[in-house]
Amino acid sequence: ALHKEPLDISFASDGVFGRYDNAQLQRGFQVYTEVCSSCHGMEYVAFRNLEDIGYTADQVKVIASRWQVPAINEQTGEATLRDAVPTDRIPSPYANEVAGRAANNNAYPPDLSLIAKNREGGAQYLYSLLVGYQDPYIGYDEDPAELEAKYPGVAPGPGLYHNPYFPNLNLAMPSPISVDGLITYTDETVEPTKEQMAEDVTAFLIWAAEPKADTRKNAGLAVLIFLAFATVLAYLSYRQIWADAK
Ligand code: HEM
Repeated sequence: ALHKEPLDISFASDGVFGRYDNAQLQRGFQVYTEVCSSCHGMEYVAFRNLEDIGYTADQVKVIASRWQVPAINEQTGEATLRDAVPTDRIPSPYANEVAGRAANNNAYPPDLSLIAKNREGGAQYLYSLLVGYQDPYIGYDEDPAELEAKYPGVAPGPGLYHNPYFPNLNLAMPSPISVDGLITYTDETVEPTKEQMAEDVTAFLIWAAEPKADTRKNAGLAVLIFLAFATVLAYLSYRQIWADAK
């Protein structure tokens, strides 16, 4: 298949009145932790920021301690690792970009903190990418050799995976959310289907890229309500002042 525009999917946080859904953000963080974090870091999200999506300070300590961050051994001065603490940011699993590329067919798994803002198509694109992996020849009757002649480069090369939502059609990331029930949600009210996990982790990435969106929208609404009230007041005083004038 050739390149496709992102699917039209909506999120709880969409629009002026939309707000984040903490239960969903926590499920999304669980997907990030159990699936994405083996390849992607989030350098602008500190563990303590997770208090904003409803974890307690104690829970954040436990969460942070599952990661390791670079440190210096104070006795020997050698580089080492220590358990992360709430003030650390979610580290990349790779020591550096060279190591990241070496592990991923020379492609570097990008940091995911701002990805919902800095990829064209935003959250719709992220969701589509996660659910969009497919056989490159779906929907065609011709045989693969003829198609390759007709659409050169559509078929993935070695170590690449086909996804019509990815601008180059083939990328080095294998389908991360490949089956229903890939993980077991702590939140047992929700079934971890592929689409659900993709939606939840995308919601989490939207939050990560703009954690203060709810505060900003609340402030905006308060300002509008105040301005509407002030306008009425100004109009009434104008009427009052000119009441006696002919
Ligand atoms: C690229 C998300 C899991 C390896 C990306 C991109 C996104 C993303 C948004 C950027 C695509 C673009 O450039 O437009 C995620 C999410 C994951 C996940 C949400 C979990 C659900 C993984 C895992 C691996 C991985 C587990 C390693 C096995 C990569 C690599 C790239 C990439 C190598 C670069 C691909 C390329 O440029 O060819 N990922 N990822 N990702 N990811 Fe993931």
